[in-house]
Amino acid sequence: MKFFIDTANLDQIREAQELSVLDGVTTNPSLMAKEGITGRNNILKHYVDICNIVDGDVSAEVIATDVEGMIKEGEELADLHDQIVVKVPMIRNGVKALKYFSDNGIRTNCTLVFSVGQALLAAKAGATYVSPFMGRLDDISTDGLNLIAEIRHIYDNYAFDTQILAASVRHTMHIIDCAKIGADVMTGPLSSIEGLLKHPLTDIGLEKFLADYNKGN
Ligand code: G3P
Repeated sequence: MKFFIDTANLDQIREAQELSVLDGVTTNPSLMAKEGITGRNNILKHYVDICNIVDGDVSAEVIATDVEGMIKEGEELADLHDQIVVKVPMIRNGVKALKYFSDNGIRTNCTLVFSVGQALLAAKAGATYVSPFMGRLDDISTDGLNLIAEIRHIYDNYAFDTQILAASVRHTMHIIDCAKIGADVMTGPLSSIEGLLKHPLTDIGLEKFLADYNKGN
């Protein structure tokens, strides 16, 4: 299972990278704005800065919603760095752009996916990753995890290559549940990854081991 961090905050990206289990980064325009990164040139530079911190894939989102605009922007983004994956929204024109990118060797992440039908279309169009937003479904009292499970089932039926990137992960249990289902990737905040580390018995056990060791020294 790949671990991506879902942020545009360089300090958090560095921290996750240093933990040595990071496989990539996802961002979106809202996450960029949260870090005060605005304006096309600043945003493009920020993508390159992120690529220079991490070893893996970095999703960079197109803003255009027409096919030609998405293709132009996506090609510019892909040219920025070989770690860039072009993030394309699940809309009619997005499906067409996904197919173009797939036919032209540009890797993609189909974003804003909320149904199995959308995920099926993304796979048919050749998306590299599909991003079902589980947290936002949970927010509206719909089972986000069930969507991941249904997509897994359908993709396995047909051996689609598209990787399921569980997105809008909010906490540690989301990661564990996605791992049980077999999501290929998860993207979440640093806190959700760090939550995997924690167990009170580990802390108590270590404290005792160190105290006992020190008795003899
Ligand atoms: O990866 C998708 C993500 O950025 C959305 O997360 O927490 O805003 O629903 P959230």
